[in-house]
Amino acid sequence: MSSEAQIKAFAEKYNIKNTSLIKTGAFVNGEWIHPGNETFAVEDPATGEKLLDVINTPIDVIEQSIKDAKVAFDKFKKESTGRSRGVLLKKLFDLMTENAEDLARLVTIENGKALADSRGEVKYGASFFEWFAEEAPRSYGDNIPSTDLAKRIITYKQPVGVVGILTPWNFPTAMITRKLGAAVAAGCTSVIKPATETPLSALAVAALIEQAGFPKGVVNILPVDQERTKKVGTLFCESPLIKKISFTGSTGVGKLLMTQSASTLKKLSFELGGNAPLIIFDDAKLDVAIVGTIASKLRQSGQTCVCANRVYVQSGIYDEFSKLLVEEVKKLKQGNGLDEGVTHGPLIHDRAVEKVQSHIKDAVGKGAKILTGGKVNTELGPLFHELTVLGDVPKTAVVNKDETFGPLVPLIKFETEEEVIELANDTEYGLASYFFTEDYRRIFRVGEALNSGMVGANAGAITEAALPFGGVGWSGFGREGSKYGLDDYTVIKSVVIGGL
Ligand code: SIN
Repeated sequence: MSSEAQIKAFAEKYNIKNTSLIKTGAFVNGEWIHPGNETFAVEDPATGEKLLDVINTPIDVIEQSIKDAKVAFDKFKKESTGRSRGVLLKKLFDLMTENAEDLARLVTIENGKALADSRGEVKYGASFFEWFAEEAPRSYGDNIPSTDLAKRIITYKQPVGVVGILTPWNFPTAMITRKLGAAVAAGCTSVIKPATETPLSALAVAALIEQAGFPKGVVNILPVDQERTKKVGTLFCESPLIKKISFTGSTGVGKLLMTQSASTLKKLSFELGGNAPLIIFDDAKLDVAIVGTIASKLRQSGQTCVCANRVYVQSGIYDEFSKLLVEEVKKLKQGNGLDEGVTHGPLIHDRAVEKVQSHIKDAVGKGAKILTGGKVNTELGPLFHELTVLGDVPKTAVVNKDETFGPLVPLIKFETEEEVIELANDTEYGLASYFFTEDYRRIFRVGEALNSGMVGANAGAITEAALPFGGVGWSGFGREGSKYGLDDYTVIKSVVIGGL
């Protein structure tokens, strides 16, 4: 377990000013359960070094925390208003903003992404608390005219109950806040299992929740190791006390959670894998398309669910686009995310590196050419994969069908709009799509034809708190953020008044 002295040394080494953010226990019913013998190590993917030992929360503690969250829910529902919940969330937004630099450093240390990306993530993450602080008092019901003159129908949006939240490592802070902001605004209580790779950022948010004065049991954060993760998923899904699961992660795990939730018929919101197409038409502005492609495809070294996976370039600008793209990619700097000037950090684990390599090998075997990169950057470390651009990628390459989730830009040539729409939609997934064109008619046409929950037209970076984030098909269902984000955490109750 990590002692006080280890935590102090950690803070000094990584320049974390507010040491109260560094937690290694579980946050349960307003208390910290300190790690005993059951712990797991959190590692820095840039160096492979152990950072701290964090509690592997025992299953009986998790079971108790679900019960506590139910008790807390009954009280929170009765005693809070939209406005009072908004005040709590606003406090949390202010605290995140005050501690932004420390939070960003924690993200980089355990996730590896460049500090500029982590700063962006913390700002983005905090914005969900601000957004839902404003939405909380405005969750209105309706007064619906009945077909019977003697009746009135009134609806209320009521909180669904205790929510089980399962979050990924690629946004250790923002994927918690995007779900938690909406849950709290609606009046729900939560039990949260953060990704095993990145619990320190989640626990730092818990420290701020405590500081903001949230009532006990409203938010519970329970780190577990990889092995226990599966058990917790099953426990959340099968618990009759948990009324909703919100999950961001792979489609395979989403399918499993959905099956496991069948016995308790839970409300579900799933943000799953993608296979985003990015299309550059002949009439695109090249500079906008290059910036947008890099922003979408190489954001966090390709490790976001909305990263472009397949890049289709129309034949008329293919040569010029690929030449300019390679020039720009070569200007990017890989390294330890904490170092000055670094734009791209390592991948999260060796499985991620192997996947990038396997997609490159497959495409090259089928005739693609390596325009830049292509290898593991062993000088930097085993988890650094070179930012790679492949040209002349055939439509039969695996990367057309399977999400790389890494820094690989495969360029695929196409001729007509009709052809590329068919290629783009030839997938079970539908999270995000992107295209670049200066033809306003095409913006409407293609924007409406692409089969995904979100489309960027002349924009490679699309996410913000105001966007209804979510997908279709195998990319999941439900919307996070925006005015729709609250709906997933509420149920509509109708009261019919008769005898009038
Ligand atoms: C994700 O990768 O799951 C989220 C990406 C984003 O919110 O921008």
